[in-house]
Amino acid sequence: STVSEKLTVMNQMAAVELEKMTDSETAGFVELYGRYMSERSKKAEIKWDLIEQPSENMLQRYDTLPKPATDEEQANLLSKLAVLKLNGGLGTSMGCKGPKSVIEVRDDTTFLDLIVQQIGQLNKSHPKANVPLLLMNSFNTDSETAKIIRKYQDTSVTITTFQQSRYPRIVKESLEPMPLTHENYAHEDWYPPGHGDFFQSIYSSGLVDTLLAQGKEYIFVSNVDNLGATVDLNILKDLVDRQVEYCMELTDKTRADIKGGTIISYDGKVSLLEVAQVPGKYIEEFKSVSKFKVFNTNNIWVSLRAIKRVMQSGEMKLDIIVNNKEVKGTKVIQLETAIGAAIGYFNNACGVNVPRSRFLPVKSTSDLMLIQSNMYNLKSGSLVMNPARQFTTTPVIKLGKEFKKVAQYLERLGSIPDILELDHLTVSGDVYFGANTTLKGTVIVVANPGNTIMIPDGSVLENKVVLGSLHV
Ligand code: UTP
Repeated sequence: STVSEKLTVMNQMAAVELEKMTDSETAGFVELYGRYMSERSKKAEIKWDLIEQPSENMLQRYDTLPKPATDEEQANLLSKLAVLKLNGGLGTSMGCKGPKSVIEVRDDTTFLDLIVQQIGQLNKSHPKANVPLLLMNSFNTDSETAKIIRKYQDTSVTITTFQQSRYPRIVKESLEPMPLTHENYAHEDWYPPGHGDFFQSIYSSGLVDTLLAQGKEYIFVSNVDNLGATVDLNILKDLVDRQVEYCMELTDKTRADIKGGTIISYDGKVSLLEVAQVPGKYIEEFKSVSKFKVFNTNNIWVSLRAIKRVMQSGEMKLDIIVNNKEVKGTKVIQLETAIGAAIGYFNNACGVNVPRSRFLPVKSTSDLMLIQSNMYNLKSGSLVMNPARQFTTTPVIKLGKEFKKVAQYLERLGSIPDILELDHLTVSGDVYFGANTTLKGTVIVVANPGNTIMIPDGSVLENKVVLGSLHV
């Protein structure tokens, strides 16, 4: 059926759901859905020949950025800054029920605790800067987060939360939004539409104006699970000096990083290239590290005034990401957008090639093991690589599916092993580690189906393959 028919359906829905969706949500969803319906059949393919390497201005090297010269300059820069964490996601892939930000990273400190410590430290060393922390929650994380942040009331960090949009999932077969086919509200009929929604949600919350009125000029946005995304004054100084409205941090790609988008010059303009946009025959080229050397960390700096201008103009139409799911046996799609896709809407937009240490995401328990281990030390809420580590790279850790959930992972580890001299760890099958184990070099532990391997307390495994049901 036609777009206009679908939009009529949408308008009916808007009437039905009026008390459930805000005006901003309804308008946002109608726009996204209408665009999806009309673009579906005639999706413009990217023209591979128009892709060029980003120029030096488009992708700056981090180590060439000038540092703020004085304490006063630092304080002045900080006073213009607000920090925002994308906190809409759940820790479901690691088997956690609540917001991912409440997973415990060290002893009993969570992602959120560490972030509050990081900003608290900044505000302590520059009392006038008063850097506020904003959390963009989703309807999935808002109430839980509200409970948790009460404990920060007495800290030096002002925390403001707002809720991002909530859109109805769409039945794949009929392409009709879910709530139309159900009489009652059901939580699983809805979804948060990706972090590209940041622009719409912060703008319609009124917080852009509030922050501007407080003298804030830039907002630093990052994933809540990236403990490497600390406030960096060299980057901030560069943005202020060169009046950059949007800056994306990218880091050198390794062969393991095939997912993230990369920065390109397209038809002479700075742009983000995501794997989903790459025609099939160029996928291998896209994944290679020789042509596309860096990838997006999702650490993004944006001018608040520019957000206001772009949102007022109504011109921002971010590429739609179609996410397929199955809900209660029905195939559905959810239309999402990503914050990185917005790079083309801002003046003097650019990327900066940052060290890997600014990208420490926790997507799996293997990532969690790394940041919980002695590979890192904690300093005012920030993870700093242990100076005793001999290499600049971190080990590659691959824990099997028996370790997937945080609860399983904790049960299978007597304590986090000493991995200071580890290069590579692969664990598969029914494996348990005792307390105080040490892993060095390449260690592979594979328990065959039906077998259990227990690594005893205090074991030291160096360049070792443990197979079958052997007890070391
Ligand atoms: P994503 O889900 O986009 O990326 O969340 P991810 O964590 O890298 O997940 P995978 O492994 O690619 O699937 C990135 C950040 O954006 C937030 C999440 O909470 C996370 O901090 N997010 C995501 C939102 O705040 N809202 C959304 O709608 C989606």
